[in-house]
Amino acid sequence: MAFVVAVAQRKGGAGKSTVAANLAVALAAGGARAALLDTDPQATLTRWHGLRDASRPLPFENPSGWRVPQAVDRLRRSMDFIILDTPPHADTDSRVAMRAADLVLIPLQPSVPDLWAMEATLEVAAAEKRSVALMLNRVPAQGRAAQEVAATLAARKLPLLAASFGNRTAFAAAFAEGLGVTEAAPRGQAAAEAQALAEAIRRESR
Ligand SMILES: Nc1ncnc2c1ncn2[C@@H]1O[C@H](COP(=O)(O)OP(=O)(O)OP(=O)(O)O)[C@@H](O)[C@H]1O
Ligand SMILES: [Mg+2]
Repeated sequence: MAFVVAVAQRKGGAGKSTVAANLAVALAAGGARAALLDTDPQATLTRWHGLRDASRPLPFENPSGWRVPQAVDRLRRSMDFIILDTPPHADTDSRVAMRAADLVLIPLQPSVPDLWAMEATLEVAAAEKRSVALMLNRVPAQGRAAQEVAATLAARKLPLLAASFGNRTAFAAAFAEGLGVTEAAPRGQAAAEAQALAEAIRRESR
């Protein structure tokens, strides 16, 4: 049975699509059967997937509305992981995806607006009785912003993954080519971060 992860965060541009794509690719590279579902009408990952070469197969669908739980149910038996990308803002659509998931993964940039937007996502996850994990994205190389956000989350006993993504051009460059960072630059720091995220999610699934 698959472990289903919905990547959700009300804030636009927090990194949902980047995290979802790189997580699915890194899990697959580790030998897992991983499917990626784009439930965002913006169709970011549908465009990304359209750029991929046939030599890099990655099970992919773009369901919406009631077709989301239907697709998850159908794929559960044949997959080890199902990763769902979700839209910003749209409460109903992201709620449907969260309801279908075992874990809600909430990426946030180490900034106050992202912390504020996270609250709404946490509320929906709690209403749907879903486990959550937070993950820092676009962590700047300098400064203490990430440590400060981590301390804020720890004070509230919110589960922050040890894995995070730095603010790296490698993520945007790989994405523009329909690749994950583990494919585009397997020896880079971004790839090491994507592998660490995959390992953290494998642990969450146990
Ligand atoms: N770790 C990172 N390092 C550098 N750039 C990043 C990183 N994560 C995301 N980005 C860039 O930030 C922008 C927004 O990322 P992304 O599309 O993944 O966010 P999103 O949450 O899916 O946005 P939306 O809410 O519109 O769906 C993109 O240009 C992406 O390349
Ligand atoms: Mg997106």
